[in-house]
Amino acid sequence: MSRFKVITFNELDSTNKYIKENLDKLRDFDVVAADKQLSGYGRMKRDWFDDSDNLSFSILFTVNLSERTGLITQLAAASVQRVLESFGVSAEIKWPNDVVVNMKKISGILVETIITGDTARVVLGIGLNINNTTFSSNISSIATSMKLETNNVFSKDRVLEKLLEVLEVNLNQFFIGTDEFLEICRNKSTIIGESVYLSKNRLVEVIDIDYLGRLEVIENGKRLAFIGSEVSLNNLYNK
Ligand code: BTN
Repeated sequence: MSRFKVITFNELDSTNKYIKENLDKLRDFDVVAADKQLSGYGRMKRDWFDDSDNLSFSILFTVNLSERTGLITQLAAASVQRVLESFGVSAEIKWPNDVVVNMKKISGILVETIITGDTARVVLGIGLNINNTTFSSNISSIATSMKLETNNVFSKDRVLEKLLEVLEVNLNQFFIGTDEFLEICRNKSTIIGESVYLSKNRLVEVIDIDYLGRLEVIENGKRLAFIGSEVSLNNLYNK
C-alpha cells in the first residue's frame, strides 16, 4: 500500500507554499495537490504558469541532511520522465529540474528544504503540463504539454496516481542509499556531451551527472562539479 496521503484543493496560491505554511499540521508523505495554483513558482522565484489543465502537487517528507539531498530533484525528474514515456510522450531531462520534449518544457521540479539541526523537511513540488493547449505569451514558444505532444486528453488523476507510484519506488531507493534513477537522468540528459553556458559567460563541456546528482563539467581543462542551486544554464531552449 502506498504511504502517500493525497489532500486536494480546488485552488491554492502554491502547493509548496501551503506545505511550508502548514508544516505543523501535515505529516511526512502527505501530498498536497491543487486543481489550480494562483501563484505557483519555480526556481529563482520564477512564475510557474498554471491553469486547471496542469497537474500541480507537492510532497512532504523528512531526510537526514547529507550531500545526497541533491539527488531528490534528480529522482523526481527521472520519475516524471518515466511516467511521460509510459503515457507515450518521449521526454528528456534538462538538468537539474526541467523535463522537456523537443527542448520545450513540459514539467518543472522545485525542491525546498526547512532545516532543523541535522534533518530537513523536504517539500518536493512538481508541475506537469497535461491538457494545456495555450500558455502565457512569455513562455508559449518554450512550453508544451502531454496533449500538445500527442493530441490526446489525459486524466489528471490517473497521471498523478502513476507518478506517485513511480516516485514511491525512487524515493525508497533514495532512502536506502541507492540511486538507479540516476541512470535515467544520464541516459535522457539533454546536455551530457554538450557545450553549455553556465551562468551567462562560463562555457563548459558537460561530462556527466555524478553519484550526488551534480553536473560534472570541464572548464578550461579542469574538471568541476556543480550542484543545481549553484548554476543556471543559459539559452538551452533556443539551441
Ligand atoms: C521550475 O520550473 O523552476 C520549477 C517549477 C515547479 C512548479 C511546481 S507546481 C507545484 C509546486 N508548487 C509551486 O508553487 N511550485 C511547484
